[in-house]
Amino acid sequence: MPDFDYGEVMSDPYTNLDHQTQTTLDAIAIRLEERGSNPIFQRMIDDYLSVIPTNKPIKILDLGCGTGVVTRKILDHVGIPAKVCGADLSGQLLEKARELDSSRKIEWIKVDSESSPFETASFDFVVMHTLLSHVPDLVPCLKDAARILKKGGQLIIFDADYASVTFGYPDFEKMRAIDLKLLAGLVTHLDVCRQLPRHLKAAGFELKSHKSYLLSEAGEGDYWLSSVKSFAKLIPSLNILPEAEGAAWVAHMLKSQDEGTFFAAGAYYTYFARPISS
Ligand SMILES: C[S@@+](CC[C@H](N)C(=O)[O-])C[C@H]1O[C@@H](n2cnc3c(N)ncnc32)[C@H](O)[C@@H]1O
Repeated sequence: MPDFDYGEVMSDPYTNLDHQTQTTLDAIAIRLEERGSNPIFQRMIDDYLSVIPTNKPIKILDLGCGTGVVTRKILDHVGIPAKVCGADLSGQLLEKARELDSSRKIEWIKVDSESSPFETASFDFVVMHTLLSHVPDLVPCLKDAARILKKGGQLIIFDADYASVTFGYPDFEKMRAIDLKLLAGLVTHLDVCRQLPRHLKAAGFELKSHKSYLLSEAGEGDYWLSSVKSFAKLIPSLNILPEAEGAAWVAHMLKSQDEGTFFAAGAYYTYFARPISS
């Protein structure tokens, strides 16, 4: 048995961001913007945006839009004839999204994904970009997406297989325990990508196709290094690890970057699905 105890797993802060401390909220808002601007992450977004037609009067919803970094990218892709909405549970992140939207063309709306206020059959595309891993009850949320999609409309889900995310650490048992604690402290469903084929079917969707990506960095970190830097703020503010262990983990990851021995990896998936009645 391992000789350490990391205690209770904390609850997912993304389910109630408006009740988090300002330190947590600011760290999350910065992380979302950094992540969305990272070239590797942008390539995965571009891959799924390529199925959305450009310069057409279509309607797209980015559900769980956060600070709107993906929503703004969607608008850049589709162009002005399209109508783009960003919707989120957090009023505070929506405020940031509004501030960052220099186009003033995006409609920002506060919603709960399980019972959105949108009219039935009103969107051509619904995008859920790292939303579902945070939603406790997935099938009602997916059923509502089926309701608001037009006939022939498409749901695009992008999420991480957080259960596969790992940060290199010399001791394997400790690495597994820390990986689990870090991710379970920030995400409700670590295995959402593995469960989605089942949940999509239960919600009345036909899974048309999927894409998968391994995002790995060895020697030197960039994408995952910025994630480590956000963990450095979130570990104490959310009490994810005991103080000394958290500080030792961050110090190890930063030292491995300086020494050229950094390692971190995780898989991401995109699912493309249509309501069966379409
Ligand atoms: C990991 S963030 C992703 C934000 C954005 N899509 C991005 O990738 O930058 C998850 C977002 O989902 C929102 N969220 C969580 N539960 C929600 C729900 N039930 N309905 C709508 N939004 C929700 C959170 O407030 C948060 O902004």
